[in-house]
Amino acid sequence: MKDMTHSADAATVEEALAADNHQGVVDSEGATALAMQNTLLTPRFYTTDFDEMDRIDVSSVREDWDKLIAQMKSDPNKGHFKKNEDWDHVDWDGMEPKLKREFIDFLVSSCTAEFSGCVLYKEMKRRGNNEDIVTLFQLMARDEARHAGFINDALREAGIAVNLGFLTQKKKYTYFRPKFIYYATYLSEKIGYARYITIYRHLEANPELRFHPIFKWFREWCNDEFSHGEAFALLMKTDPKLTQSFANKLWIKFFLTAVYSTMYVRDHQRPAFHAALGVDPDWYAHEVFTKTSEISRQVFPITLDIDHPRWQKGLEALQRANVDLADAKQTGKVFKRMGATVRAAAAFIGLFTIPAVKHQVPVSTRLEPAY
Ligand SMILES: [Fe+2]
Ligand SMILES: [Fe+2]
Repeated sequence: MKDMTHSADAATVEEALAADNHQGVVDSEGATALAMQNTLLTPRFYTTDFDEMDRIDVSSVREDWDKLIAQMKSDPNKGHFKKNEDWDHVDWDGMEPKLKREFIDFLVSSCTAEFSGCVLYKEMKRRGNNEDIVTLFQLMARDEARHAGFINDALREAGIAVNLGFLTQKKKYTYFRPKFIYYATYLSEKIGYARYITIYRHLEANPELRFHPIFKWFREWCNDEFSHGEAFALLMKTDPKLTQSFANKLWIKFFLTAVYSTMYVRDHQRPAFHAALGVDPDWYAHEVFTKTSEISRQVFPITLDIDHPRWQKGLEALQRANVDLADAKQTGKVFKRMGATVRAAAAFIGLFTIPAVKHQVPVSTRLEPAY
């Protein structure tokens, strides 16, 4: 066996990606094919105008910036993302087939999402010349490579893994202008934090429901995502137009609606997984939205009115339309498919047009994980 570092111990993204984590299985067609999918509901890979991002000047947020970078450089989670004595044996063969299918789907989709961050951040680091930007993106790429590597460790026990090298080369990249990258990535980091910490706290209170050891790693994990979100909050803070102009407020509302509703629909596709965790997906969604909204007030001047009577109804309508759409695609029913598409669009517009909650953004952006 080659003597390589584990991705958890790697100091850079390059090292983390080179680590094979001392495992035999390096690929499985099914998992990689799943990760290759590009639908509205599956994690995508992004590319952007790296030169524009390289021109960001962080001097207006210098003090907070330097603190954050110093904290990330100190690397509190080095070595965390690998199996240790807390890792329990997982009875993959004995797992109820529906749960196994949904859980694998959850792991593959999480691994793809983590890796999506890794490839975007790594590319920014590679293309940039701005010392501040390059340093930040190198640190974030390092974290995401470890996260993806760790999920792959868990998947390998089930005899599968996502081929990350193949994905880098073959998965389609979606172009987003830098400002859309800020909104989308900021939100996905913060909602990622809220998702991980909510599950972690729930299983801390109900340890008998923890059917897989990976959930024990979620607290440190979500702190990484929290820091990444902080970095994007500071980046947005360098240019007030990004969050204050009328058009950009609409974009922020659009991204909030899209990110929240995608999460709702995606989670409702995994009923057995949530049942095994003892988590009601409607409760979970509301909990995660509440936390994410509370956090995103640090930089966004609006939050969605998730307690509005039309909110929950709209999400349910979107979810039903999505189920019918998937069904129509499988059975090839053209009219049903068109009908479901129209209903999904109408439900999304209904959610988007709920009046947002406006508020004052604090002068200082920085937050610490509080949940
Ligand atoms: Fe991550
Ligand atoms: Fe992250």
